[in-house]
Formats: sequence, structure tokens, C-alpha cells
Amino acid sequence: MTDRNRFIKDLMAKMDLKDKVGEMTQVAIDVISKGKPQKLVEPHTLVKTRMQDAIVKHRVGSILNVGGHAYTREHWYEIMKSIQELATKEKKSGIPVLYGIDAIHGANYTQQATLFPQQLALAATWNPSLATKMGEVSSYETRASTIPWNFSPVCDLGYDPRWSRLWEGFGEDVLLASEMVKAAVKGYQGNDVSNKNKVAACLKHFMGYSMPLSGKDRSPAWIPERKLREYVMPPFQAGIDAGAKTVMICSGEVNGEPVHASKWILTDLLRKEMGFEGLVVSDWEDIHFLYTRHRVAKDYKDAIRLSVNAGLDMAMVPFDLKFPVLLKELVEEGKVPMSRINESVKRILNVKYDLGLFENPYYPKEDYKKFGSKAHTKAAFEAALESIVLLKNEKKTLPLSKNTKVLVTGPTANLLSALNGGWTGTWQGDEPEYDTPGKPAILEAIQKKIGKENVTFVEGTTFDKNVNTEKAATAAEQADVIIACVGEYSYTEKPGDIDDLTLPKAQQELVHSLAKTGKPVILILAEGRPRIINEIEPKANAIIGSFYPGNEGGRAIADILFGDYNPNGKMPFTYPKFINGLERYDHKGTDLVYIDSEMTNFRPQFEFGFGLSYTTFNYSSLKVEPVWDGTRELEISVDVKNTGKIAGMEVVQLYIADLVASITPSVKKLKGFQKINLEPGKSKSVTFKITLPDLAFVGLDNQWITEAGEFEVMIGNLKKKFELQ
Ligand code: BGC
Repeated sequence: MTDRNRFIKDLMAKMDLKDKVGEMTQVAIDVISKGKPQKLVEPHTLVKTRMQDAIVKHRVGSILNVGGHAYTREHWYEIMKSIQELATKEKKSGIPVLYGIDAIHGANYTQQATLFPQQLALAATWNPSLATKMGEVSSYETRASTIPWNFSPVCDLGYDPRWSRLWEGFGEDVLLASEMVKAAVKGYQGNDVSNKNKVAACLKHFMGYSMPLSGKDRSPAWIPERKLREYVMPPFQAGIDAGAKTVMICSGEVNGEPVHASKWILTDLLRKEMGFEGLVVSDWEDIHFLYTRHRVAKDYKDAIRLSVNAGLDMAMVPFDLKFPVLLKELVEEGKVPMSRINESVKRILNVKYDLGLFENPYYPKEDYKKFGSKAHTKAAFEAALESIVLLKNEKKTLPLSKNTKVLVTGPTANLLSALNGGWTGTWQGDEPEYDTPGKPAILEAIQKKIGKENVTFVEGTTFDKNVNTEKAATAAEQADVIIACVGEYSYTEKPGDIDDLTLPKAQQELVHSLAKTGKPVILILAEGRPRIINEIEPKANAIIGSFYPGNEGGRAIADILFGDYNPNGKMPFTYPKFINGLERYDHKGTDLVYIDSEMTNFRPQFEFGFGLSYTTFNYSSLKVEPVWDGTRELEISVDVKNTGKIAGMEVVQLYIADLVASITPSVKKLKGFQKINLEPGKSKSVTFKITLPDLAFVGLDNQWITEAGEFEVMIGNLKKKFELQ
């Protein structure tokens, strides 16, 4: 028996049922704070009697979240000291509390923390080592804020551009997302999660969350088993294989069954098939929603029965203390077996043990000298630089010379929140008073780069209203170049639902008026999902895409605008051109439209994998053996040359098409990628190694298979066929 097993066995032998159901309960910090849930009294204060009630009387095992907005590190210390002292000294079991938070792009609920690009922007780097770096810095700073559990990464594919949480995931492709998930988990947990710089990761939201039929958050998804297996499960499996300690359940319903009540998903698939042994936590209030919204349970108690029996280990309640009381009754009435409770409690205690909480429920502040350090900022800046995608650059409009006179305009120009997105200081990230002081938005970063005297700023519009578009157009007459910053404010979840993906009219009209001046227009997109721009795209001479690059995003954009950095980000999702054209890059051959008496397929605004550079790359000598028997690895190689005048990074992308298959094949699928750095004039041979599972798909019987036959390899503009025998 391992030390851990012995320790947990001894501990559980001393626990009564009340201790156990308490461990399975997670409440929001609001429950122990002054004020009403979500309307806490400022400054945030813990209330002793409420703490006694939750921690000592109800014996809750876990607390989450921030009450309202980011706290100072000092305040986090006070909170954690009070909670853990009470738990370890006065709670009957003496078990420390497992505190969890959404530190999804850095310790975003701690003031002065380092904020990285959000996941979608990280995916645009196509550089998993940056996701690891984000994980390392975020885990360090989250632990420096006394918190050992991070509800991150999101493993849901960015499958539907309408969805308000698209930017929280690693894009639309299974391989890219899986690699990034793996890398992030490695960064968060390292090799030993008990290390005081590490946190437990949480793979969320298992599963099917990102494919709501309506595009609206937490609305029903209908996903055939084949698609669940081929598209939804792999990024979670990658996270499980990387050793993630926890998983969060999807708030939605899949095929008519709320996931919180699905034994098939939570036990048969997650546990038995995918081999997950860690802790499964519900999402926010989702047990309640089983009877209030989904109506598969008649009341709260019935909902608890359904969910715990389906496989839930811990309920993110979050605002009441009835869960442990009702769960205890259910066990006593024989409606939830004791074995189910013991299984969950063991998993919860394992995580607490692995994090070293029994020895150190939190560490002293002095142990974290690198919090918010220059080295951490540098890492976030490097990630931001690689996350920006150059989408258009007609006649080499960019880079601009540093003595250009520019007009900066548009609603995202002077707003750090449009670079950070949700979960920044606050849940929605939309309260600029919680922005990190000293971090420049796009406007200020440009002013710093070329001097205030070269920059005129006119707001032009808010996100949806004309403020002074005419004034902006007049000011444009005096400028050499117009930098129009459009896009979205910050949002997440339900508040981020929209009815129209098109970029709001006011912003489009701003661009139309600016273009009429005849001055070159550079469009900067600062947004969390692709807002449709097909009418204004032709008016722009250059376009830069940013998908919440974080606190250092303003500087990164300025560096790219003025040639201090050669852009190398690539699209991690398909940017649609038309509101009814939401297909992804790996669509089927029959995804066709009929235009001007011709069948045409797939006309995105910007394709997945696309992104320009200030240099050029030439691909040649694509090599693959024409016949492969599948026993060894298949090598595919290509030569890439930097044919321009400056150094640059390129993402070499390997796509393969299965030409004939028993399930209609996609036109192509990403099967490998490597990011390389090339000095001007230099070449490199890039090799990919393919094995049989790389060519597999989920067949008619819902099992993975690889079928023999002809395949086509595509890298850059080159193509070559091979036959699998
Ligand atoms: C979100 C989760 C998040 C949780 C805790 C929920 O509303 O869906 O992603 O981790 O809240 O804040």
C-alpha cells in the first residue's frame, strides 16, 4: 500500500457520514462573507459565524471563487489563514479546505498578477511551450495567492464561433487543442503537484459544452456518439493522460440528458473508458439546475441523488448549505450507496494529499518573490507577440515607419479589457477599475512606440453607437495612416450570448467613413470570437487579428505595427465570412454552396492555419513513400526556405486527407505541426512521423479504425499521395 493510500484509509476510518458529505460540498466565498451572495459588502470581509456554520458545522471540504473582484495578495493570505486555521483546528476531521479558482490566464483574481493571452490567443501561437509557460507562471502566482486548485484548462473545442466562450478554448482543431491542453496541464502541475509552485489543473467542461445547437451558452447540444468520440473526447483524454487531477462537468445537456445526471458520460466514459481517477466537480449551481432548468429531477434532493449516483464527487453548490444535509439523508434512506460516497471522498482526499495540503495548507507570502516579476511579464509578452495574427497586408502596408502620423480610432483602441477578455479582475472582465495599472492598451502602446506627437486619437464609436465618426474621418485627413481598432468588449458565459455575429453596424460605418478619405486603413480586430467583417474587409489595406492577447497585448500589437517584431501567429479557428457559412476547415466534401451556376465550397474570411509574415517562405521537396504497410512510422518531410529579407517563424502544418473511407472523410485534417525559426535565405528540412492511429477515425460501429487505401498529404502548397496497404 502506498503512503497516500494508508494515510487516506486511516483518515477515512475516523470520518463519519457527516464528515464525508461535507467533504463533497463546495461553496462560494460569498457564503462565509459579509453581504448577500454576489452582492458582498466592500471591503470584502469574512464573517466568523458564517465560517463556523459552513466549515465547522457543515464541514465543507472546498470553497471557491472571489467575491466580486480581484483581491490583493495580502487579503488572500488573510482569507486562507482564517479558513485553514478553522478547518484544521475546529472542524471535526481537521481536514484542510481545498480552495479553487478560475486563474485561467494568470492569477486573474489577484491584483498585479501577470496576465497571459487567453487560451484562444495561446492557440494562435501554435507553440505549446508557451501554454506550458503560461501554466508555470499562473500556477506560481495562484499558489502565491494561497490557492492550490485552478479551474483550467478548457478542453472544449472552439467549434461554434457564435458561442460566448470560444475564446476560452484552444480553437477548433482536435490535434492543436489536445497538444495545447497537454502543455498547459504540464505547466500547471509539473511532475510533482505537491511542489509549492504548482496547482491542480481542472479539465473543463466535460463534455459537449462547446457545441450548443443554438450557439447560445448552456443551451442543448445534440452530438452523435461518433462525433463525441472523434471531436469532443480527445482533448480531455490528452489532459487525463497528462495527469490532470480534476475534471469539471459540462453545464449543458447532450442529446437530451443533462451531463450532470449522465451516468454514461460521468462513469462509463470518463472513468471506465478514459481512465480518469481524479476528482469530478460540478459546475456552478448545476445540481440545482437539474430541477429548476433541465427538469429531470423533481426537487433538490432528487437532483442530488441523480447526480451523485451518476458519478459526481463534489458539488459546486455554491450558495447554500443544504447539499450535505440532503445527501446524508439520501444515504441513510438507501438512495445513494455508501460505496459511492466513499469513492468520492477518497478521490477528494487524494487531491488534497497530492497537493500537500495536509502538511502545508498554504505557504508564506515571502516564498513567492517572483510574483508579478519582470521575468513573468516577459514570458507573457513573448506569448502575446506570438499570438497576434497578420491577416492581410496589401502592398506591404505594414510594417509602418516610426515617423508615420497615425490616427487611432475605434472602441477597442483605448481599452485594456478588449485585450484581456473575461475572468480578468472580475468574472466578466468589464470593469476597467480592476485593470492592472501601467499596462497599455493599443493606443497608449502606439503612443509610446512613436511618440504622442505622431498620434491623434478620436474615439469614433462605442461598440454599437456612433460617438464622433465624422470627427474621426476629418482627423484622418491630417494623418498618413488610419489605425481602426474594432471588435468586442469583454464577456463570458450567458452575458456574452449574441443574436448576430456581424460586427456591429456603428463600427462598420466608422470603417466605411474612414476609407472614404483615401488614406490607408489598418484594421485591428480585438475580439473573443470572429465578428463578421466581409463588408469592411475590402476597405482595409492591412488587418491584424488579436483574440485576447492579455495585459501585454497592446505592446505586442505596437511592435508588430511598427516592425519591431515579425508576426507569426496562425488562425486557430476558421474566421467565417458569412453568417450562414460557419463550416470548419475540416468540413466534408459535400459542404457546398451554389453560386453563379457553380458549386463552390468553403469561402471563409480567413482559413484555419492562415497567418502572414513580413517575410516569405517557400515550400519544396515534399517527400512521402508512395506505399506504406503501416507497421513502422511513416516519414513525411518537406523543405522550408525563408525567401525574404528578415528572420521569421513559420508554422509548418501537415494535413492529410483520407481519399476514400467508410465514413465520409473530411477534406483534410491537421496531423502534425512544427513551429520553426528561419534566418533570411536559410532552409530547413522538417520531418513528421505518422503512425496508424494518426489516420484513424470513428467508424460505423463507433469504434476507432484505420482503413487501408489512398491518402493525400498536404503541406503548404504541396500535395502528394500515398497508399496504406
Ligand atoms: C463556469 C466555469 C467556472 C465556474 C467557477 C462557471 O459558471 O462555467 O467555467 O469554472 O463557474 O467559477
